[in-house]
Amino acid sequence: MTAEYKVHGDIAVITLNNPPVNGLGLATRQGIADGLTKANDDPAVKAIVITGAGKAFSGGADIKEFGSPKALQEPNLLSVILAVENSSKPVIAAVHSVCMGGGLELALGCHYRIAAPGCSVALPEVKLGLIPGAGGTQRLPRALGVEPALNMIVSGEPVKSEMLAMLPGQKLFDKMASSAESLAEEALAYARSVADARPLPLVRNLPCKHPLGDAYFQFARNMVKGMSKNFPAPAKCVDAVEAATKQKFDVGMATERDIFLNLMLTPESKALRHIFVAERAASKIPDVPADTPQRAINSVAVIGAGTMGGGISMNFLNAGIPVKMLEMKQDALDRGIATIRKNYESQVKKGKLKQDKYEQRMSLLSTTLSYDDLKDADMVIEAVFEEIGVKEAVFKELDRVMKPGAILASNTSTLDVNKIASFTKRPQDVVGMHFFSPANVMKLLEVVRGEKTAKDVLSTVMAVAKKIRKTAVVSGVCDGFIGNRMIEQYGRQGGFLLDEGCTPEQVDKAIEKFGFAMGPFRMGDLAGNDIGWAIRKRRVVEQADMKYSKTADLLCEKGRFGQKTGAGWYDYVAGKRDAVPNADVVTMIEEHRKSLGITPRKISDEEIVQRLVYSLVNEAARILEEGIASKASDIDMVYLMGYGFPIYRGGPMNYADQVGLFNVVQAMKRFAKNPLDDAKFWEPAPLLAKLVAEGKTFN
Ligand code: NAI
Repeated sequence: MTAEYKVHGDIAVITLNNPPVNGLGLATRQGIADGLTKANDDPAVKAIVITGAGKAFSGGADIKEFGSPKALQEPNLLSVILAVENSSKPVIAAVHSVCMGGGLELALGCHYRIAAPGCSVALPEVKLGLIPGAGGTQRLPRALGVEPALNMIVSGEPVKSEMLAMLPGQKLFDKMASSAESLAEEALAYARSVADARPLPLVRNLPCKHPLGDAYFQFARNMVKGMSKNFPAPAKCVDAVEAATKQKFDVGMATERDIFLNLMLTPESKALRHIFVAERAASKIPDVPADTPQRAINSVAVIGAGTMGGGISMNFLNAGIPVKMLEMKQDALDRGIATIRKNYESQVKKGKLKQDKYEQRMSLLSTTLSYDDLKDADMVIEAVFEEIGVKEAVFKELDRVMKPGAILASNTSTLDVNKIASFTKRPQDVVGMHFFSPANVMKLLEVVRGEKTAKDVLSTVMAVAKKIRKTAVVSGVCDGFIGNRMIEQYGRQGGFLLDEGCTPEQVDKAIEKFGFAMGPFRMGDLAGNDIGWAIRKRRVVEQADMKYSKTADLLCEKGRFGQKTGAGWYDYVAGKRDAVPNADVVTMIEEHRKSLGITPRKISDEEIVQRLVYSLVNEAARILEEGIASKASDIDMVYLMGYGFPIYRGGPMNYADQVGLFNVVQAMKRFAKNPLDDAKFWEPAPLLAKLVAEGKTFN
């Protein structure tokens, strides 16, 4: 049952009941339509109340129907709203808690609306690259006024019902209930008070004008320019609302429909909808059921108060979870604490954090030099030097002191989590928690699942991630996990491009124009070129046949490690992040090229982007095939949240799907023929080849 029907004396009540937020899926829509028919056919019924059970009036479209034909199947939302408008008996929406998207559009179709205070009201479609598609852009400006309505439609942000009710002249809410608890009773009374009113008022008949006319819409277009870069929807919101002021209602509805359907087909909206679903899917692990028990995490210990340890600690302090940091020496602890303080103080200065909140967070932080002080912590996260011997010593100590059932996590970025687990007598409690730097800022958390990691440990870590506001993605154990294993191939392509004729600036600019936050060389300078250097030194031992450009090694031999040394692929002025191209680096690249006997060629931006992005895609396909990632959308989340992949392209896998996997493979075959590139690498991963053969996509 997704919409219940009950008669209370002379009032029929239709209660949406499709948890968690009464999404307007097909069955719910059918339930509303049936309820309306029943109520209109029943002579004892004088008026009809529509409300929502549980935590919402309605959150809008049912995400389970996203992009499926069910979403459009009759009765679709437009038809339901038409049925509401055409009801011969008054229909009253009784809204509370959450009234968003299609939920608000449904309410706007009702003859009257009564709202509980505290209700979040929004038309959030713009966040999915769309405009409201069931009359929201035509009715909200009529009910609320053009300007506040456009603000809501363009931002997609919720506004509280009581604030909206205060807007002068608004016709969105005819009445405010005194509380959410009394809404049901007050709605019945209100319905009785309007039961005999005729003609029935309709929002569509209200006037819709802005006093400034065209000038206002010009201002509005200028205002949305910033947020419209790469996203077509915000400007289309302005067009649709303008149509509400200039066209007859039904014509405006057709304009809205046109815009909505066109936006549905844009790659940007497809990307945003993909991300919406991918984000929710990431927390679901195929073989870990949703009802897997979780361990209670009320206190955390962090080993190592360096760059990562400090940032990791801040995440927990921000979430109100006490943290105890352990170091080998007092001065390391002092430095760690000072950095955390400095971070918070700069937030206080910028007005982003209240002084009392800052003090409250710091009061949750304690330190120690002794492992015995950690024994009561529910979870410990290790962030010490990246050396297996150091990790061994730490995990043996943790195994000795931590209480049974405590979760033992490592923030290692390259080491084998199974090996780390083997240092303890409780490998089932060991897991990788790979944060990204700066750990208090970056949204991504790779949860590394060891061979023996227990399911309840995984489900607990996923829940903890949510609490500290991270997007967690599960990765199996392999070198570099999902993100860094892919970035290594991307970096290798960057090197070949230099050898063949590019400058670092040209490569960076091309991929930044594609939408990456930062090109590979600026990113190398930020992360420290010495990190990649160390990895390559290890690689040439392990994989002697691996082909790669030596330019990055030459750069490191010059001590140009990046921003931290003031010089890398670019020069940096202290205190600034601007990357200034350096002539000596360009000469170094040219000389190296000459020593290899390569005649430089002009490489197009298109080739640069394809080689960089498809190198990610091919490695990702291998990762997927090996089961390191359990779904393609997880890989997209890693790249969107942790590596600055452009949001409007939806991640590398989504992008490849959009380009067409056939085309992607064709390009790979072309690259394989380039003698200066790595033909073996460009062999399409078997999974990719299979998908192409079957005409399928990743997602
Ligand atoms: P760091 O050098 O800034 O900090 C390491 C801290 O651990 C130092 O303060 C050191 O005194 C302390 N330490 C070393 N041995 C210890 C021991 N036996 N007991 C207690 N404390 C000890 O290093 P960073 O960058 O914070 O890295 C830490 C870990 O995080 C490494 O495993 C690294 O691979 C990983 N990681 C680093 C990222 C980064 O961007 N820096 C990103 C993701 C992971």
